[in-house]
Amino acid sequence: MPNNEVMQQRCSLCKRVITIRDQYDMPIYDPQSGFALCKNCIREINHFLDEHESEETVEKKKDFALTLDDTLTKNKPHIIKEYLDEYIIKQEHAKKILSVAVYNHYKRMKYGYLNHEDGTEIEKSNVIMLGPSGCGKTALLSHLSTLLDIPFAVTDSSSLTEAGFVGADVEVAVRNLYYAADKDIEKAEHGIIYLDEFDKIARKSGENNSITADPGHEGVQQALLKMLEGSVVEFTARGQRKHPEAPTIKVDTKNILFIVGGAFVGIEKVIAKRLQDSGSAIGFGASIESKDDKPKFDDLIRKVRPEDLMKYGIIPEIIGRLPVICTLETLDEDALLRILTEPKNAPVKQYEKLLAMDHVTLIFEEGALRAVAQKAIERKTGARSLKGIIEDTMLDVMFDIPRSDEPRKVIITADCIRNGEVPKIEKL
Ligand SMILES: Nc1ncnc2c1ncn2[C@@H]1O[C@H](COP(=O)(O)OP(=O)(O)OP(=O)(O)O)[C@@H](O)[C@H]1O
Ligand SMILES: [Mg+2]
Repeated sequence: MPNNEVMQQRCSLCKRVITIRDQYDMPIYDPQSGFALCKNCIREINHFLDEHESEETVEKKKDFALTLDDTLTKNKPHIIKEYLDEYIIKQEHAKKILSVAVYNHYKRMKYGYLNHEDGTEIEKSNVIMLGPSGCGKTALLSHLSTLLDIPFAVTDSSSLTEAGFVGADVEVAVRNLYYAADKDIEKAEHGIIYLDEFDKIARKSGENNSITADPGHEGVQQALLKMLEGSVVEFTARGQRKHPEAPTIKVDTKNILFIVGGAFVGIEKVIAKRLQDSGSAIGFGASIESKDDKPKFDDLIRKVRPEDLMKYGIIPEIIGRLPVICTLETLDEDALLRILTEPKNAPVKQYEKLLAMDHVTLIFEEGALRAVAQKAIERKTGARSLKGIIEDTMLDVMFDIPRSDEPRKVIITADCIRNGEVPKIEKL
């Protein structure tokens, strides 16, 4: 309707005739059908909906809080840790921190669903994990995700770019969570987001790097900061191109728990420098250059402080939003040995099962296992290369064994691993 035209219109609901001076007098008016609703009626409707909905949602929330009791009982920290113990060797501290973080997340959720008069707020404790390559960061989180009853999504931060750059916008992390929640917005709003490879978005001009070009990393951090602080993130459905008219999905990140992790290669030098500058009697000096000095590397990394992360190139506001710092340890030969055989999905167990299907018993000599672990240490990729090293040796065995159905045994010796000697296959 033209702005300054005064006209009269009957409300389709209360039938009163309203003099319309501006749109506010008759907020809903369709000139074609003549359907109109006056502001009083709209207010009534809103009021009704508010009252009705709030009763309904209060009940719903109470029901949900009750189901959370069950979840809380099933997800006590020691139970979560026991589950992680089945797959992850060592990293006791990280397992404890994650178990407590998840349990507290559930508790905080329950608290939020119950009405609290005293106004106490439980703030979330986002976690940052640091540890060398192949020590189990990604593995820990992926096992955790299979255990949890709440949506959990892992997003690789290295694929994120500032809006306008080629790559994925940060909203992708929330979109992944939304799909992990089976497109249930309310569930997604209480989920957990793990941002892997978080060090890859460090500002390149941080002290770890002399290159000044920065393909939008600071912009990514700024965008992530908004998410961490709690904001309504808007994104389009998967497969839908982003254009102004595309329908969007909105998810509030206020209650989402964020866990970020990365290797932060070179941060030990930043830490050592700080300790030296502050005159701390740590006496590392040149020895930190030696990568083989594992215990020293672990000693340093354990002393990481927020300011080291800032020097590394993470903006202070983000660090402020990640109050729990968790460091993982370098895996030594004994730990790698255990990883080969102990976890539920241990490489040796997997090969044993594979060969058993061909009636073959697989025997890894102790020396062979140790040789695998030593080779992995030489490669400096933690536990990551273990499977590949065994695979190299096992390929011929797995190729030749199915030639016959006879029960046999295969013995893998240290020489098979070290010098590529062909494994012995014997009749049983
Ligand atoms: N502590 C561990 N216990 C059992 N298995 C482990 C452990 N650490 C690593 N692994 C195994 O090694 C593989 C590689 O580890 P993972 O991907 O978790 O390394 P990461 O710490 O994320 O390294 P990066 O920083 O390079 O990403 C995993 O798939 C897992 O099978
Ligand atoms: Mg990883």
